[in-house]
Amino acid sequence: MSSRHHLRINDVSVVISSEPIEGIARAGGLDALVSSDDTRLSMGGGVSAAIRIAGGELIAQEARKLAPVRVGDVAVTSAGSLPAKYVLHAVTVDWDQPVRPSESTIRLAAENVLRRCELLRVRRVAMPAIGIGAAQLSADHSARQIVSALAKHSASPTTIEEFVFSLPEKDAHGAFLQFLQRVALRPTDDLSSETGQLALADGTHPATTAGSLRANKPGARGSGRPTGALPTATRTKTAHTSTDFLRWLFRRERRSAEHRLQERDARHPTSIQESRPLVGNRYVLLEELGRGGMSIVYLAWDIVLRKTVAIKTLRPGERMAQSRIEGLRQEAALQIGLVHHGIVRLFNFEPWDETVGPYIIMEYVPWMSGDRWIAEAGLSRLPLRAVLSVGICLCDALAHAHNANVMHGDIKPSNVFVDPAGRAAKLADFGIARAVGGTERSALVTRLIGTPRYMAPEQKTVGALVGPRTDLYLLSRTLADFIGATADNDGAVGLPDDATVAPAAAVLKRGLANEADHRPMDATEFGSLLQGALAATV
Ligand SMILES: Nc1ncnc2c1ncn2[C@@H]1O[C@H](COP(=O)(O)OP(=O)(O)O)[C@@H](O)[C@H]1O
Ligand SMILES: [Mg+2]
Repeated sequence: MSSRHHLRINDVSVVISSEPIEGIARAGGLDALVSSDDTRLSMGGGVSAAIRIAGGELIAQEARKLAPVRVGDVAVTSAGSLPAKYVLHAVTVDWDQPVRPSESTIRLAAENVLRRCELLRVRRVAMPAIGIGAAQLSADHSARQIVSALAKHSASPTTIEEFVFSLPEKDAHGAFLQFLQRVALRPTDDLSSETGQLALADGTHPATTAGSLRANKPGARGSGRPTGALPTATRTKTAHTSTDFLRWLFRRERRSAEHRLQERDARHPTSIQESRPLVGNRYVLLEELGRGGMSIVYLAWDIVLRKTVAIKTLRPGERMAQSRIEGLRQEAALQIGLVHHGIVRLFNFEPWDETVGPYIIMEYVPWMSGDRWIAEAGLSRLPLRAVLSVGICLCDALAHAHNANVMHGDIKPSNVFVDPAGRAAKLADFGIARAVGGTERSALVTRLIGTPRYMAPEQKTVGALVGPRTDLYLLSRTLADFIGATADNDGAVGLPDDATVAPAAAVLKRGLANEADHRPMDATEFGSLLQGALAATV
C-alpha cells in the first residue's frame, strides 16, 4: 500500500510518497525526475545514453576520459521513455565503488539539482529521498540535507511548485517523517513559520489537490523495489559534468536559457573550466553550432569573461593549409572593423591552437540561421512582413559594410541569422568578403567563388567586376528564397505572383536585375524600397 504525506516548505508543496520513483514518474505530470544511478532512469537518452556504460574497466576508462566525474555534479538528459520532461542525474558516484557521500556532498548535490530545476523552469520535480546518487544512506543522513537544501532554496522566489520525495515505506518512512518533525520543521530552522504545519494525508485516497500524485491509479505502481538499493551489476554509471549540462541546455533552450544561465553561473562558479581542454587557455568548446564548406563553428564558454562565444575553426583537413589560414585571417581582418548590430561581431583571430588550429572568436548569435527558418516553416510560407523586416535590417547592415568599403559576396540563407519574429537579423560569414574601395568601388573576379545557386551573374564571369551592388543581388536572392520563390541551378528565379506578394516581388525583381546598373543604387535605397513594400503589405 502506498501512502502520501503533504507539507509546505514556504511556497513549495512537498509530498512524501512511499511510491518508488519509477512509479511516481509513471503516474505522470512531472517536469523533472532526479535519478540516482538507477539503470532505468539513466536510460533517458541524449547525453546519458551516449556515454552510458555497461560496466568493465576499459569502458569505464573511456567514459572517464569523456566526462570526468566530479562528486556533486548534476547532469540533465531528456527523459526518454519516462513521462517527465527532464532527468537530472545527481552524480555522486565513484566509477568503481559505490561511495557513501558525506552530508555536505549530498547537500551540494541537492542544491545543484534545485538550481538546475530553476534554470529549466521546472514546476514539479521528484527525487528519491534516500541515496541521491549511488549512496546507500540512512533516511536521517540524506533527508536532512535534501530538506535543508530545499528550505534554503525555496526561501527565494522559485518556479518549483511541487517537490515529491520518494521514500519507500520499508526504508524508514516513519523515521523520515519523524525527522521532518524533529529537525526540518523546527521554527528556528531555515523554514518559514507557515511551514510549521505537517499535514498528513493518507495516500490511499485519490489525490485531491491539483497537481498531486495519482499514485493509486491502476498501472501507476512501480516495482516496489527500493530506489537507492540496486545490485551493483545492473547499475548504469553515468558521469555528466556541468559541461554536459551546458551543452545539452544550449541545444534545447538556447535562446531563453542563455541569460539565466550566464547570470546564475556568474554567481555560482561551476567547474567547467577544469573538466575540458581549453582552446587558447581560455575557451571551453561546448557544442557544434554549424558547419560550412571549410569550417566548423562551436559554441564555447569564455572562462575569463564568463560569456558564451562562437569559435570558428577550419575543418581538420584544412587546418594546415597556409592559404586557408590566411583566408581565415583575412575574413577576421575585414569583419573586425564592422561594428554594427546587424553584423555578427568578431572579437579576434588566433593563428594557432593545439586542438583546433587557427580560429576566430566571435559573438554567439542565439537566433536561427535563415536556412533553418525556411526549413522549419516546411511547406508553409514565412510571414511576409517578417521577411521584409529582416530584409530591411540586412540592408542597414550592408549599408554599414559598404560604407566601410567591405562587400560580403556570399549572402545566402545559411549566412544570415534571423529573429523569426522579424524584429532583427544579422549578417554572418565574411569568408569571401572583399575590400572594395576608392573610386572604383569594385573588385575584379579572378576566380569563381561563391555558392552557384546564389551567385550574382557578375560573380560567374572571370574578368567581370563585383561591388556593393553584387550584394544587393545576393540579398534579393536570399529574400526570394524566404518568400518561397522557385529557382533553378542556373540562377533563374521565379517569384510568386499572387497579389499579397506583389509589392515585395516588384522590389526583389529590381534587386535581381542581371545588370548591376539596373539594381537599386545602394543598400540604403534598397532598404527604403523594402520599407515601401512593407507599408503596402498587410
Ligand atoms: N556567431 C555564430 N553564432 C551561432 N552560430 C554560428 C555563428 N557563426 C556561425 N554559426 C553557424 O555555423 C554555420 C557555419 O558558419 P559560417 O561562418 O557560415 O561558415 P562557412 O564560412 O564555412 O560557411 C552557420 O551557418 C551557422 O549555423
Ligand atoms: Mg557560411
